[in-house]
Amino acid sequence: MREEFKFLISVPIFADLDGMDIEKIANLGSIKKYRKGNIIVMEQETGASMFIIISGKVKVVRIDQDGREVILTILGPGDFFGEMSLLDGLERSATVVANSKAELFIIHRTEFLDLLHEFPQIATSLLAELTRRMRRADAQIKSLSLKDASGRVANALLMVADDVGMFRKGAAEIEELPLQQDLANMAGTSRETVSRMLHQFVRSGHITLDGTKLTIHNYEAFRKEFR
Ligand code: CMP
Repeated sequence: MREEFKFLISVPIFADLDGMDIEKIANLGSIKKYRKGNIIVMEQETGASMFIIISGKVKVVRIDQDGREVILTILGPGDFFGEMSLLDGLERSATVVANSKAELFIIHRTEFLDLLHEFPQIATSLLAELTRRMRRADAQIKSLSLKDASGRVANALLMVADDVGMFRKGAAEIEELPLQQDLANMAGTSRETVSRMLHQFVRSGHITLDGTKLTIHNYEAFRKEFR
């Protein structure tokens, strides 16, 4: 297999496939590079491909007429997006923007649907991940509609911890916390409120901040108290 396609081996939805099958998938797709800020997928457009992140980060957003955005999630290496409109034939459900320099593996609709038929393991992994995303969206809906500022910011931190956190002895460590403006757009609040709440969580001993590294000392207790 060509060096540039080796990353496919560590993509979670392909975890149950052997080397030959992965090679087959490598031959079906192509690789494209994006710069930070590039729009990869636009809400309401028709979708013709799905994407797997090789490197970098993307944010999935919904934007209103005034340009205000709510961040649904930030995805990183190994994650996929763009599958929804291929599965139901409807328009793109959200806009996806490169949040850093990003390199993506792109598979077109027909090849993607063929893969699901040929490898039921991929369909099962895909369903498991879609279920996880739905649970996460449920928690976000609850937080946005029922929680005060501390609950919303705490939920945004928990979402990031669930996605990219390292769990050790009950603590969740986030190596690279998203920008405060991005956290604000996840929590449906202002950057100033995020800043205020982060300081409050530090003072109350729930978290430690060290540059871009954030540690939630007792993940379970924090989740129980705020989510
Ligand atoms: P699609 O609708 O084709 O294009 C936008 C993509 O954003 C969508 O597929 C999903 O891959 C992704 N997406 C939409 N909503 C969410 C969400 N709540 N959580 C994670 N990813 C999402």
